[in-house]
Amino acid sequence: MEKRPQTGDSRRFMSKRKTLLATALLLGSEISGVAAKVYPSNHESYKFNYLNNSMRYLKPKRALSKRDNPIPLIVTNSCKDPLWPGIATQHGEPPESSGFELGPGKTRNLTVSSDWQGRVWGRTNCTTSGDTATCSTGDCFGKLECQFSGAPPATLAEFNLAGGDSRKQTFYDISLVDGYNLPLGLVYHPAPNTTNFPPNLLNAACIATAGYLTEPARTGTFYTNSSFPTPYDKIQTNAGVSKWCPWDLQAFLPEKPGDGVYPYPDDNVQRPNFDPCKSACAATNEPSDCCTGKYDDPSVCKPSLYSGHAKAVCPDAYSFAFDDTTSTFIVPSGGGWEVVFCPEGRSTNILATFGHQLSAIASGSLSVEEIQATTMNETFIDSQPDDSSSSSGAASGFEDLSIFACVIAVAATFLMLWVE
Ligand SMILES: *[C@@H]1O[C@H](CO)[C@@H](O)[C@H](O)[C@H]1NC(C)=O
Ligand SMILES: *[C@@H]1O[C@H](CO)[C@@H](O)[C@H](O)[C@H]1NC(C)=O
Ligand SMILES: *[C@@H]1O[C@H](CO)[C@@H](O)[C@H](O)[C@H]1NC(C)=O
Ligand SMILES: *[C@@H]1O[C@H](CO)[C@@H](O)[C@H](O)[C@H]1NC(C)=O
Ligand SMILES: *[C@@H]1O[C@H](CO)[C@@H](O)[C@H](O)[C@H]1NC(C)=O
Ligand SMILES: *[C@@H]1O[C@H](CO)[C@@H](O)[C@H](O)[C@H]1NC(C)=O
Repeated sequence: MEKRPQTGDSRRFMSKRKTLLATALLLGSEISGVAAKVYPSNHESYKFNYLNNSMRYLKPKRALSKRDNPIPLIVTNSCKDPLWPGIATQHGEPPESSGFELGPGKTRNLTVSSDWQGRVWGRTNCTTSGDTATCSTGDCFGKLECQFSGAPPATLAEFNLAGGDSRKQTFYDISLVDGYNLPLGLVYHPAPNTTNFPPNLLNAACIATAGYLTEPARTGTFYTNSSFPTPYDKIQTNAGVSKWCPWDLQAFLPEKPGDGVYPYPDDNVQRPNFDPCKSACAATNEPSDCCTGKYDDPSVCKPSLYSGHAKAVCPDAYSFAFDDTTSTFIVPSGGGWEVVFCPEGRSTNILATFGHQLSAIASGSLSVEEIQATTMNETFIDSQPDDSSSSSGAASGFEDLSIFACVIAVAATFLMLWVE
């Protein structure tokens, strides 16, 4: 295992987050839903919408008209191989297709209703025939069009387009709670009334596959430009991310080397570039790993080894159900989204750097000009904590997080959970 990043900054970082929450609460109920919890796909709370009318989610009931204010949901495959994206709808009108083949370099434009809630992921290595598709990761019970969530492990992009008390905020995240299969990035496509949000606050990426990490550089990657430098993880390397998955959680364990002279398992055994990783929850289905049952409580459910590693390679992604404070993006409603599989670049570290600015956009408490001034300021970005997790700091950081979560519980009237 590579040496995990050390920062020693977690505690300082978390107390800063507490200050931010206090500020957020003072700002009042406009900032709703600072906590949005992400359950694994096997959780009851996630399944409830399907129970009685799952067929509804195979196809839209009707074509969306202009009156529905359709929101773009664009899917791009930047991988070198074909993908079969899957889309599950929890609420609202689903897109035109919930599962399809997408060749390398191809993009498919879809639309969903402005109250849509659901997730997008990539299926790999599918064998298809008619309406069936059997895939090695992300499989939809053998169907090409997905009716439910896909089989873990899969990197997820999750959206709630009508979140918050007022239903006028978009909540979104990248989730590794169901494991990781492909690098994934999100690109905001502004609506005419939301063009002035800085892109480096919104376009999150999780890139944790060897070969996709570029040298640290704030420009030239798909999600940023020279006027709005994106805060990103500076620590990981291609060699390092090839081994982030705890050995036993690899979805496809590498073969024993030929003559068995090497000990096995052994980190010297070459892992394949495409090395999907099960989350601890997906692997064990234990309440303690899935934060279910009596562990459905932030003061009880703690991050696993998997969560710690996942957070280190993808600081902006959910690594387990209760790390929502550094994993949930909230913006005023209006714009749409592009989900890019296999972006090249680096994992972003936006929430640790610009959490305050993002809250300010969500609440309208700072002018867009003030926010832009900060988000264009490279010195400011560099002065922020580099990484929200570390092996030595994780424990103390997460204890703080539980206190933080209690504060959230007390403030529950202001907040809205992701899953109603
Ligand atoms: C499903 O439909 C049945 C019969 O209409 C109803 O009793 C049940 O509560 C419904 N379940 C859910 C989860 O909506
Ligand atoms: C898909 O959406 C993108 C971005 O909005 C747009 O530039 C492109 O023209 C669209 N493609 C098609 C075929 O509609
Ligand atoms: C499976 O899919 C991954 C990701 O698309 C690809 O890298 C890998 O080569 C595929 N493996 C096979 C056996 O097709
Ligand atoms: C960077 O992005 C912003 C917002 O999309 C845009 O207004 C600006 O022109 C871009 N700057 C450059 C140098 O491309
Ligand atoms: C932008 O316009 C849409 C459609 O009218 C609306 O739903 C949304 O709330 C608006 N967003 C903002 C930030 O004003
Ligand atoms: C950029 O940020 C730094 C550190 O916060 C601050 O000292 C400096 O004044 C800022 N520069 C501008 C132009 O806002």
